[in-house]
Amino acid sequence: MSNRELATLYRAHLETIKARVDRALQKSGFDHLLVTSGVEKHEFLDDRPYPFKVNAQFKAWLPLTRHPHCWLAYTPGRKPVLAYYQPDDYWHVPPAAPEGVWLDEFDIRVVRDPAEAAQHLPREGRRAIIGEADAALPGFEPNNPKALLDYLHYHRAYKTPYELDRMRAAQRRAVPGHRAAREAFLAGASEAQIHAAYLAATGHSDLDLPYNNIVGLNEHAATLHYQYKQTGAPARSLSLLIDAGAEVDGYASDITRTWGNGDGGFAELLQAVDAEQQALCAGVRAGTDYRQLHLQCHLRLGGVLRQLGIVAMDPDEMLATGVSATFFPHGLGHPIGLQVHDVAGLSDEDGRPIPRPEGHPFLRMTRTLEPGMVVTIEPGLYFIPTLLAKLKQTPQARHVDWNRVEQLLPYGGVRIEDEVHCTDGDPENLTRAAFAGA
Ligand code: GLY
Ligand code: MN
Ligand code: MN
Repeated sequence: MSNRELATLYRAHLETIKARVDRALQKSGFDHLLVTSGVEKHEFLDDRPYPFKVNAQFKAWLPLTRHPHCWLAYTPGRKPVLAYYQPDDYWHVPPAAPEGVWLDEFDIRVVRDPAEAAQHLPREGRRAIIGEADAALPGFEPNNPKALLDYLHYHRAYKTPYELDRMRAAQRRAVPGHRAAREAFLAGASEAQIHAAYLAATGHSDLDLPYNNIVGLNEHAATLHYQYKQTGAPARSLSLLIDAGAEVDGYASDITRTWGNGDGGFAELLQAVDAEQQALCAGVRAGTDYRQLHLQCHLRLGGVLRQLGIVAMDPDEMLATGVSATFFPHGLGHPIGLQVHDVAGLSDEDGRPIPRPEGHPFLRMTRTLEPGMVVTIEPGLYFIPTLLAKLKQTPQARHVDWNRVEQLLPYGGVRIEDEVHCTDGDPENLTRAAFAGA
């Protein structure tokens, strides 16, 4: 896409954001919206900053992600003001001069000191101030009105064409990383080396990934959010589960692939989960309740457990008795966009909760799918010692082939995760399209 086309998409995106904010302000009784990009936080009693993570409500307006102490002020009908913090700093590299497709859409005021932003922001009227407290700016303490945020969060689930374009780009950025990770795994690399190969291929550093990569070899794949990267390679690399994303202009991708070394029944398991994952992706259709898709996922994965001789039970029974949850103990997925786990998957426009199915406490999305939404579809089957030990204590234990489970334990588990865009018609699998080079 040319810069000109992107600028056109961006302008339309901004109009959508403004229209949403106009409505949210009106609904919640405010005159102005003020949004802070956030502050750089420091370690306790130290001068070392934590990685800066921008306020998602700020980057919804414009693609500035490394810019603390910026403020945006919007009053319906007026050009939004951007207080752009650009300190005179020789210890660090300050933000470059403002540049990008968004430039002409804002009334930009460069400030050299965080406190200077106050001169450019409305002091009167009913102000909705969104963000974390910024000690440098007295009189602008955030109030984060719930009604306003509920409305904006809810509507953020519907991606604009600009956002979809950026999300496709975030998929494309992750693909070479996943390819490099697979190569490194097949060559017998350690988790740390696989992670380094991923970073090098995507051009990301640890600090600007949208979330901490999960890189688990062998039984580490059974820890859902495995957080370490061991520097030594295991004697035998049986499997790799890599859950790793990328970011473009503040938009995230969140992709999981699992690879095996070709032996054991693991290849069969991989293939079966992959087939069910694709069937579930095909179910991302307008009007489908995501909760039903999650329950369908349990049944499909239960079918895999039965077909591979791991559990001799009817999938409905597995779901009813919690057996499928032993092997699939997380939700089917979540909304994604400006945040990896994007907000408002569980509530309506007024912030009223949309309940999860009983017994499924980890599901992050309970809304009915509609065109424009992007969700992850991430089924998995794992061999988690603590959960298996609990299953062993139940009457259902006799239906489990524990020898088969023992054989698969050293592989940890399988998860396959794509992002899928719900449209008016067939779903668009953003991840598979990126792998296919589309
Ligand atoms: N990477 C975390 C998740 O898949 O939700
Ligand atoms: Mn995910
Ligand atoms: Mn993930």
